[in-house]
Amino acid sequence: MITRLQGRTAVITGAASGIGRATARRLAAEGARVVCVDLDAENGAKAAAEVNGLFIRADVTDEEAVRAMYEEAVDTYGRLDIAFNNAGISPPDDDSILTTGLEAWRRVQEVNLTSVYLCCKYAIPHMRRQGRGSIINTASFVAVMGAATSQISYSASKGGVLAMSRELGVQFAREGIRVNALCPGPVNTPLLQELFAKDPERAARRLVHVPMGRFAEAEEIAAAVAFLAGDDASFITASTFLVDGGISGA
Ligand code: NAI
Repeated sequence: MITRLQGRTAVITGAASGIGRATARRLAAEGARVVCVDLDAENGAKAAAEVNGLFIRADVTDEEAVRAMYEEAVDTYGRLDIAFNNAGISPPDDDSILTTGLEAWRRVQEVNLTSVYLCCKYAIPHMRRQGRGSIINTASFVAVMGAATSQISYSASKGGVLAMSRELGVQFAREGIRVNALCPGPVNTPLLQELFAKDPERAARRLVHVPMGRFAEAEEIAAAVAFLAGDDASFITASTFLVDGGISGA
């Protein structure tokens, strides 16, 4: 395995499961010291143990918790090079503009979008001090195209993540901080499995639109994060980084 992230410290939110957990393994395999953050203490601790890293139980919608988790990461490992802001939740049932209630809408914005605002807000000062850093925010392919599957609150939250990442990428480009929006297509994780369990036909409808004819595995998304995190991506910032099996190009 290449060790292009040797000596770097990464903080990964949503690291207990799916894309975050696969990314913890991948970044550690490439030499990074990994801090796993999640609400789920049991699986979060397991994820950290797998990579010989640090687990921090935190709710990424809690401003003080987000500030403190970066402090703890820097206190423990001395620096912060990579922030993978990835924790998120799926759309509420029947997430149509006609049916989604204000509370459900607000909750999705809070977990999927406000959390990314908080993570960037508290990661950037550490990176500025170092004059270097890579932030990768998990958006989605639904940030760049309509999916016609009634997920209005979810799509809006991911569109916000995309726009914010682009804005920050431009703003901090001259300070050595790169910010990119990672836009996965459908990925075979508990989040997607839960959605399809509620509506089995949704899987078939979604699959039809993926030119590759399959869903991604979390490891394929993790490989893209490892690339964006390191110096191979040194001229990539403010990008809409699609890893979607061709779905947005079809
Ligand atoms: P997952 O459900 O497997 O993992 C999400 C993790 O985030 C869980 O461990 C959960 O405990 C954690 N989490 C949720 N709310 C939290 C909070 N308030 N504070 C701290 N941790 C919290 O989901 P998956 O699929 O790995 O998703 C990761 C990201 O990728 C999400 O932002 C999701 O929206 C996005 N995404 C997923 C796609 C898919 O098809 N699975 C497609 C495109 C984007």
